[in-house]
Amino acid sequence: MITYNIYIVDDEDTILDSVSLALHGEYHVETYESAEQAIDSMEKSPPDLILLDIGLPGMNGIEALGRIKSSHYDIPIIMITAYEDINTVISAMKQGAYDYVVKPIHMDSLRVTIENALETVRLRKEVQHLQEKYLKENLPCYIGESHAVQDVMDLVETVAKSPDTPVLISGETGTGKEWIAGAVHYRSPNFKGPLIPVNCAAVPKDLIESELFGYQKGAFSGARASGKKGFIEEAANGTLFLDEVGDLSLEAQAKLLRFLEEGEFYRLGDTSKVRVNTRVIAATNKDLDSMMEKGLFRRDLYFRLAVVVVHIPSLNERREDISPLAKHFLVEFSKKFDKNFTGITSDAMDALVTFNWIGNVRELKNLIERGVLIGKGPKLTVQDLRIKEGYTLQGIKKAEHDICFPPIPPTGVDLASLQGSLEFFYIQEALRMAKGNESKAARLLNMNHHTFRYRKKRLQIK
Ligand SMILES: Nc1ncnc2c1ncn2[C@@H]1O[C@H](COP(=O)(O)OP(=O)(O)OP(=O)(O)O)[C@@H](O)[C@H]1O
Ligand SMILES: [Mg+2]
Repeated sequence: MITYNIYIVDDEDTILDSVSLALHGEYHVETYESAEQAIDSMEKSPPDLILLDIGLPGMNGIEALGRIKSSHYDIPIIMITAYEDINTVISAMKQGAYDYVVKPIHMDSLRVTIENALETVRLRKEVQHLQEKYLKENLPCYIGESHAVQDVMDLVETVAKSPDTPVLISGETGTGKEWIAGAVHYRSPNFKGPLIPVNCAAVPKDLIESELFGYQKGAFSGARASGKKGFIEEAANGTLFLDEVGDLSLEAQAKLLRFLEEGEFYRLGDTSKVRVNTRVIAATNKDLDSMMEKGLFRRDLYFRLAVVVVHIPSLNERREDISPLAKHFLVEFSKKFDKNFTGITSDAMDALVTFNWIGNVRELKNLIERGVLIGKGPKLTVQDLRIKEGYTLQGIKKAEHDICFPPIPPTGVDLASLQGSLEFFYIQEALRMAKGNESKAARLLNMNHHTFRYRKKRLQIK
């Protein structure tokens, strides 16, 4: 059986003695003659419930109530008052007191009030526990067997634990950036707060500031008469996900930077600041390095957002993930369309593994969805996928390049190491031509900076 811990805070010895005697045995009771002493000891071992006198010397009960609620919101506090002063009682209830009792205290009614309060706490904890369990068990899983995906998930686990750290997610379109933003949010302590996604590219440039920061009534023509909370305020105690952050105007970038630095901002047309605690996750499929070079993205904002960078390599760079992803989507869409697909033919899987994935996982998902929808089953075939010749890597090679490759010698070649050497050579060559400037070198190889950096690191090129 749980023994609840109750603090009694009152300057009258008779109250402390009589109430603690009455509750002794059922509860673990600690008595304090002042709010200051009680608050001090709460730091070491917070109680489950507090009986708090209003008319205390030094810090009075109402002041103490505010202090305790700001740091231990969940602890129910029952106020003790010498006479039923309606204004004081209302003020206490407004500040979050659970209930109040009037002196002289009737122990039977106090007992019922305490039992009810503790039952509320117990139920709240149970709901919270079930919510956490449900969310953990129902988190969509991020599929992938490659080292790259394992590295991404390890980083997600680590960064999720520090709920104030900004995160920048980079990767080509369809690699799963939004997915990763959700994973960071739901694995972090602020998962009980909201996850507010904002697609910066979808909001018109002249509206983005009012959408992000909100506005005061009458801030501009067309503004709502009542004013409006912005996305940042909506995301209080949760996560603000700024998708396509590269599309923010320079003005909005400046305001966002100020918010990240100070934790405060002004609503449009307002003169008092709003303080909001939220984690900012930004994502982009643009090359922010080259945008910074062109003066289109603020460097100082980049460093604020990129405290932790999670880079998701393109699907073409982690082909080991194609088969598990394809199987996962096959099951998902088979269920959705009530089909009986049991697998993928080896020809179809070969085609998938050698396909040039420009739209990454999203494209793979769409292809499987269409295949399952039009296919008859029980196996997904190349015909179901409708992959056109010319789109697979072999096809592209045929169509695009006139490069002469040396013939295969009788002893054969080690293709995997040849590919590695080719990559090694071109990355070094591009760096040489770009005089060590990584983003220029990346552009020479038609890849984004993060992909370039990832490959360079993997090949240990200095
Ligand atoms: N590893 C994965 N496991 C399962 N599903 C995935 C994975 N990666 C991506 N997806 C799925 O692929 C689709 C595209 O992912 P998402 O929308 O997160 O991409 P994105 O990087 O945000 O793209 P964009 O830059 O175009 O906004 C989603 O439906 C997502 O569910
Ligand atoms: Mg996205």
